[in-house]
Amino acid sequence: MFDQVINRRNTDNTKWDLYGPDVLPMWVADMDFLAPPAVREALRAKVEHGIFGYQFPPSDWFGFVCERLERLYGWRTTPEMVVAVPGVVAGFNVAARAYCEPGSSLLIQPPAYPPFLQVHENAGLQHRFAPLTETAHDSTLRYAIDFDAFEAAITPDTRLFLFCHPHNPTGRTFTPDELRRLANICLRHNVIICSDEIHSELLLGGATHTPIATLSPEIEQRTVTLISASKTFNLAALFTGFAVIPNGELRRQYRQTVERLALHPNGFGLAAAKAAYTQCDDWLRELRAYLTANRDTLVSYVREHLPGIRTTVPDATYLAWLDCRALNLQPNPFQFFLEHAKVALNDGAPFGPGGEGFVRMNFGCPRATLLEGLERMRAALEDRK
Ligand SMILES: Cc1ncc(COP(=O)(O)O)c(C=O)c1O
Repeated sequence: MFDQVINRRNTDNTKWDLYGPDVLPMWVADMDFLAPPAVREALRAKVEHGIFGYQFPPSDWFGFVCERLERLYGWRTTPEMVVAVPGVVAGFNVAARAYCEPGSSLLIQPPAYPPFLQVHENAGLQHRFAPLTETAHDSTLRYAIDFDAFEAAITPDTRLFLFCHPHNPTGRTFTPDELRRLANICLRHNVIICSDEIHSELLLGGATHTPIATLSPEIEQRTVTLISASKTFNLAALFTGFAVIPNGELRRQYRQTVERLALHPNGFGLAAAKAAYTQCDDWLRELRAYLTANRDTLVSYVREHLPGIRTTVPDATYLAWLDCRALNLQPNPFQFFLEHAKVALNDGAPFGPGGEGFVRMNFGCPRATLLEGLERMRAALEDRK
């Protein structure tokens, strides 16, 4: 089913419309796959009913979110702890506004998903960086946490750790031991954790995910966990996510900010999320197997045909982070591949420190599309010789 190539040009989507018709887009994080049948059916039913009135569900309506958290992780939450938001980016910006006062700082681990790097501007804050460290093995690259640097980056004005778990762009899932160490440092310095777990269900190979909030009741009480069906089930344009906040006071502050900014989720997004979380496990199992095979195809291709480039082997997500620094591509790898390979990747520079000289490649597409992109890149590098 995922091998089907579907024409997305001129269908009002940014991924395929931003560049010209000769460019293969492998950048922004949505996949070139149909959403699961049950999601499309739920949306069709809403359209066919044809009346699109306000939808402000009572809290017990969100029970399906709690059921999923319990089923996947044994994490017991209650529907009152769930706050719906119009997307995860909105969700972490709300956290910054709710918990930080102007002039205080938030902590980020670059290279980082670019909207993380804008939060401080949106909320009148400063940011502190605790970069992930890289280790290279031949053509692959792996990232790790430097815990001393993480703790040293915290200053007395640091209120919030904006955590990306699994991490975009490096594809790292973090182990319970790593999570516990990070969380304990945050608790020691009275830093609230906002954990963006949007990629947590896109697990590749045998990878597993542990929500940071599940490590201890103390950590749970200091954590806002952001989840969404949008990456996993390919529903990005429906902009719906959930903040799970077990601590009553943190939740009150969070809800107040959501209400002041009038950040209402929309009915289509809610219907799609409910169908995705309750009826699409088989689809997701197949998707993960397909993405794992795509990841493995990409990693072998880079090793065999793109000498000088190193890639991560992501544990999660459909994003590979390619280190092109050794090739010194001009004016930068993103422009080089756009002009000479006609492949649109994400430029590494906007991912902040550690992003220069990298590109991010989206492999959430039919295998034939992935291979075409890789072959275009190989040909461009060969022409350069
Ligand atoms: C880490 C991370 N958070 C959030 C988002 C987007 O969230 P939303 O579209 O729900 O605002 C993305 C999309 O790529 C992402 O990678």
